[in-house]
Amino acid sequence: MPWNPEIYDQFKKERSAPFFDLLNLVVSKPDLKVIDLGCGTGELTSALLGYLENPNVTGIDSSAEMLEKAEKHSTENLHFFQRSVEEQIELDEKFDLIIANASLQWCTDHEELFPNIISKLNENGQLAVQVPSNHHFIVHQLLSKVAEQEPYKTRFNGWIREYPVLKIEEYANILYENNGKEINVFEKVYPHVMENSDAVFEWASGTAIIPFLEKLPEELKENYKADYKAELKKAFPGSPVFYPFKRTFIYAKF
Ligand SMILES: C[S@@+](CC[C@H](N)C(=O)[O-])C[C@H]1O[C@@H](n2cnc3c(N)ncnc32)[C@H](O)[C@@H]1O
Repeated sequence: MPWNPEIYDQFKKERSAPFFDLLNLVVSKPDLKVIDLGCGTGELTSALLGYLENPNVTGIDSSAEMLEKAEKHSTENLHFFQRSVEEQIELDEKFDLIIANASLQWCTDHEELFPNIISKLNENGQLAVQVPSNHHFIVHQLLSKVAEQEPYKTRFNGWIREYPVLKIEEYANILYENNGKEINVFEKVYPHVMENSDAVFEWASGTAIIPFLEKLPEELKENYKADYKAELKKAFPGSPVFYPFKRTFIYAKF
């Protein structure tokens, strides 16, 4: 996927707050072997070094563009690899802490994915995941609405954006069925106040729009962006724009 670290980092403060909320769920112990699935630019992964005592941390991500930024955070306790989550769970390696912040929403079939990830935990291992769960919000729905109009509809050729994120009780069930203890699953709304609809567009340009653009030919990408921007303007004509961004936190010990 064509991730752009510069665009993604425009809302650094808003995007990093949930990571620290996630970290607060983790019980720190010395010498943990940790993996960050979908580590992105590695900046937040490197914060694990300050939070945990002498951890050995691996960050993996499928995007070369994001990992290029991550490399500068490498230390002898922190290494990055270009690898997808799906490839990682095929490996034999196990961890004491598996963390994934705002990444697993890009992977399909969470009913199957989560047990596979959990199987990569050592005894007493911890799983800490945060996924955005606001796909029902208009900012996301408008991406699909524009995609259903021509000339995009023909180009998408029946493809629809599917959001794999489950309900919080479904995640709790998966954790329980896989022998999770101290299960803690909840949703939290982050109250973002944005200047106007263009700022909302910039926010979505860093993430949600990516799968749509990826499927369009070069000559339609800019038109699609302009049409989406216009729809956002209709939805949010004033200033400021309140964007209640909902995220799901999933934590357990195994
Ligand atoms: C929204 S960013 C989050 C990055 C980082 N965890 C953070 O909190 O700043 C999502 C990241 O997930 C990565 N990603 C998406 N699908 C992936 C997959 N299947 N395997 C590995 N990484 C993936 C993307 O390349 C991107 O860097």
